[in-house]
Amino acid sequence: MPSYNPGLHHRQENRWLNSFRDPFSVGFLLKLGLFILILFVFTSLFLFINGGPELELATWSQDGKSSRLKKKIENIDDYDAGCSGFSMGEIIREQKKILESVRRELIESQSKLDEYRKVYDELQRTIPQRQLELSTIEGEIEAAHRTLLEFQAKRNVRVYLPHEPLFPASHSYKTPSKEELTFSLENIFDLSRCSITSFMPIFIQNSGGKEGNWIDSFKSAGYIEAKSPDTACFVLSLINGSLPPDTDPFNKIFLNYGSPITAPHKSILVQSTCAPFRRTIDFALNLDVSEVDENSWESLPQLLPFSRKNYISVIIDRNQEVTKNLDEDLKLLQESSKNVEDSVEILDCRTSTAFCDKISEGRAQSFKSSIFCVIFDSPDYLRYFYEALQNGCVPALLSLDLVLPFDDLIDWRQAAYRMPAARLPELHFILRSFAVEDILEMRRKGRMYYSTYLGDRNAVARTLLAALRTRLQIPPFEAKIASKNKAKAFFNGSFTSPNGYSISAPPAYDDDSIGPLETSFPSPTFLHNFTKLQMYSYDAWNVDMMPWKSGEHLIGALELPAEAEFHEDTKIGFRPIEPGSGVEFSRALGGNRQREQFTIVLLTYERDSVLSDSLKRLYQMPYLNKVIVIWNSINREPPDSWPRLHVPVEFIKVKENSLNNRFVPWDRIETEAVLSLDDDIDLMQQELVFAFRVWRENRDRIVGFPARHHARFGDSMFYNSNHTCQLSMILTGAAFLHKSYLEAYTYVMPIAIRRHVDRVMNCEDLAMNYLVSHLTRKPPIKSTSRWTLKCPTCTESLWKSESHFDERHECMRLFTKIYGYNPLKYSQFRADSILYKTKVPPNHQKCFKIV
Ligand SMILES: *[C@@H]1O[C@H](CO)[C@@H](O)[C@H](O)[C@H]1NC(C)=O
Ligand SMILES: *[C@@H]1O[C@H](CO)[C@@H](O)[C@H](O)[C@H]1NC(C)=O
Ligand SMILES: *[C@@H]1O[C@H](CO)[C@@H](O)[C@H](O)[C@H]1NC(C)=O
Ligand SMILES: *[C@@H]1O[C@H](CO)[C@@H](O)[C@H](O)[C@H]1NC(C)=O
Repeated sequence: MPSYNPGLHHRQENRWLNSFRDPFSVGFLLKLGLFILILFVFTSLFLFINGGPELELATWSQDGKSSRLKKKIENIDDYDAGCSGFSMGEIIREQKKILESVRRELIESQSKLDEYRKVYDELQRTIPQRQLELSTIEGEIEAAHRTLLEFQAKRNVRVYLPHEPLFPASHSYKTPSKEELTFSLENIFDLSRCSITSFMPIFIQNSGGKEGNWIDSFKSAGYIEAKSPDTACFVLSLINGSLPPDTDPFNKIFLNYGSPITAPHKSILVQSTCAPFRRTIDFALNLDVSEVDENSWESLPQLLPFSRKNYISVIIDRNQEVTKNLDEDLKLLQESSKNVEDSVEILDCRTSTAFCDKISEGRAQSFKSSIFCVIFDSPDYLRYFYEALQNGCVPALLSLDLVLPFDDLIDWRQAAYRMPAARLPELHFILRSFAVEDILEMRRKGRMYYSTYLGDRNAVARTLLAALRTRLQIPPFEAKIASKNKAKAFFNGSFTSPNGYSISAPPAYDDDSIGPLETSFPSPTFLHNFTKLQMYSYDAWNVDMMPWKSGEHLIGALELPAEAEFHEDTKIGFRPIEPGSGVEFSRALGGNRQREQFTIVLLTYERDSVLSDSLKRLYQMPYLNKVIVIWNSINREPPDSWPRLHVPVEFIKVKENSLNNRFVPWDRIETEAVLSLDDDIDLMQQELVFAFRVWRENRDRIVGFPARHHARFGDSMFYNSNHTCQLSMILTGAAFLHKSYLEAYTYVMPIAIRRHVDRVMNCEDLAMNYLVSHLTRKPPIKSTSRWTLKCPTCTESLWKSESHFDERHECMRLFTKIYGYNPLKYSQFRADSILYKTKVPPNHQKCFKIV
């Protein structure tokens, strides 16, 4: 024990410091050990708190390493607490041991950690890959499963042999008498009263019933009214189930909306069933239809969803005698469908007559929830047929003889399937084999035919007259129909402003000639008055769906072969392009057709200076026929001074400020090609001329500049103007379209759409895109690279408000409901001129400088 020594105290105080000076002193080692230990503890704690990847991994590895580490740390604490009880040497040894073991463990864990990290990284890397593999495999399993199901479905539908010829003969085709056999339109119709230039004058005879609204319907169809029965091509007599006594039988058409009668020998009969039915004479039509109603689309079905509760619904009439073993066949059908889990509903009026009542809720429900409606030959087949169409149920007709409405003109093969009744045992196999696309197209076409030709009285009247014209080969009196499109002029009866002022310079960027200036000439009209009734009749009835018009211009009119330009008699109007490239191209229109021009229809509202600037940009535009300004500022007359162009600028007076005015087929439009423009669109002449050339090759499409598309977000479809690689609409603020589409927009498109356009003062361009895609099933064509247009006040930038877009989303959804489906189609390319961005040899020039 050291004695008291003040110096010692001093020495002891300095030992701490000294120990640092002497690197090999025991105290130093001890302190270094402690220091490292504390450092280690703190680092570990720090890492632990901050959740470094190593520690996380250590915890995650769960092999006890980390818990052992923690124990060690605890031990160290213990050691600190009880330090006083040990001798120095022991403490040092102990500490060294601990230090050693800690270090070992540290190194060990570090290497383990590295290992784990490697594994972890490897896993991280492979997880997405494996996930991808997994989802691929899942996809394959799913596909295989589907294929299996389909295969099973197909395999399980057995084909049974059809029957031998069946008797008795069908209801609608009772054996005609000898005299009736010789009847045809040719020998019962006195054509001397129906000159082809007479336009088919009609005298309507009123038999005193409540048929007033039928007469209104015929009036709305625009027939020529004859002064007396003697000057009429035919007399249309509306009857209610009984013939008037002794009438002149010639050129008489009986429209019987009452109970069916026997056909009068020498007259045409229109009623729901005809016995005997004379194919070239009579019409089988269900006349029990409602008045025209702009909201009738609400009662028509939506095209999708495809699946319905039943695959097949069969309606069996009260005294059905169609096949030898009807009940056996039905049993087979049910068994066969059970195998593939198709539901078949049989509406058997032999047991429950309610299904065959004139109005049957049960029948309507069944048709509404079935994909196919099987209809046999029965007195009421036409009613079932109409109802099937109305409910989106594809009619499967088990008779080759059943007469369908206007079936010499409407191609019902597009909307219904027909087979002989003897094939009933094969029916399920056949119907089950149809592709979904085919079935949906039948459903779609059925709905179109129904609403265009059959659905209401106006449609029936219009269609009946068109069918009679087709049979008698008399083109319609277009002037009468067109009178609705007669434009009214400003400027004291003149369309052009009296004080036009000249402009001198063309726009700066269009200094090169891009085409010759020719005087205005119209496109030839009415070239197909008679061929429209035969050669073009199929398209008129089944594609364009405007058979009641002779068509000023036909979209699908044929072209001459290329050598036509070498022959004197056929070369007129061709503008062949000389050999060469850009320069020669600019000098002539070329293409596959004779020369033509386009009309600009400019819609303007309250922006006179914007309009002036737009007009100036059209100065010396080649191929321009005229500019038509639709003056929507109805509260004032246009000022009488406007830029004077090389072509007339005509101002049209309209009754109301409506966006639908843009698409009225004004009589002032004299070309097939119409360029619809907003008053503020700034496009280069090159761009317009190029788009015109593109349109000439795609006359049934909308060809233009600003593109938009429809896109799905969540559960709904949205209008979308973002830049994307797909488009489905071209805004009609700058687009070429065929004049016929203006007619279709104004007279064929559901009126509910035009009303909506007026209500929201928006969406007329969407409506036009819907219409054209609906009629053609093709997307529009985008030309040149312009996506948005240089127009500071353009539709979207002007009202780029939320409400503008909301309205447009809503329009899309409403139009989709009105058509029963969304007719828009996507397109993934755009049209550029041929040498655009092509490296050309020095002696060649691009087609256009810029586009
Ligand atoms: C047709 O005649 C029947 C009775 O024969 C009558 O009940 C019905 O109201 C008549 N229809 C019209 C439209 O006059
Ligand atoms: C064709 O029909 C139009 C319109 O009805 C008529 O103006 C024209 O004269 C007709 N052309 C011929 C050759 O019949
Ligand atoms: C408008 O026409 C009428 C008759 O054609 C004529 O009397 C009148 O002077 C004309 N007004 C103007 C401003 O040209
Ligand atoms: C369009 O793009 C903008 C951003 O560029 C985005 O905020 C917006 O949601 C997009 N709109 C649609 C309808 O895709």
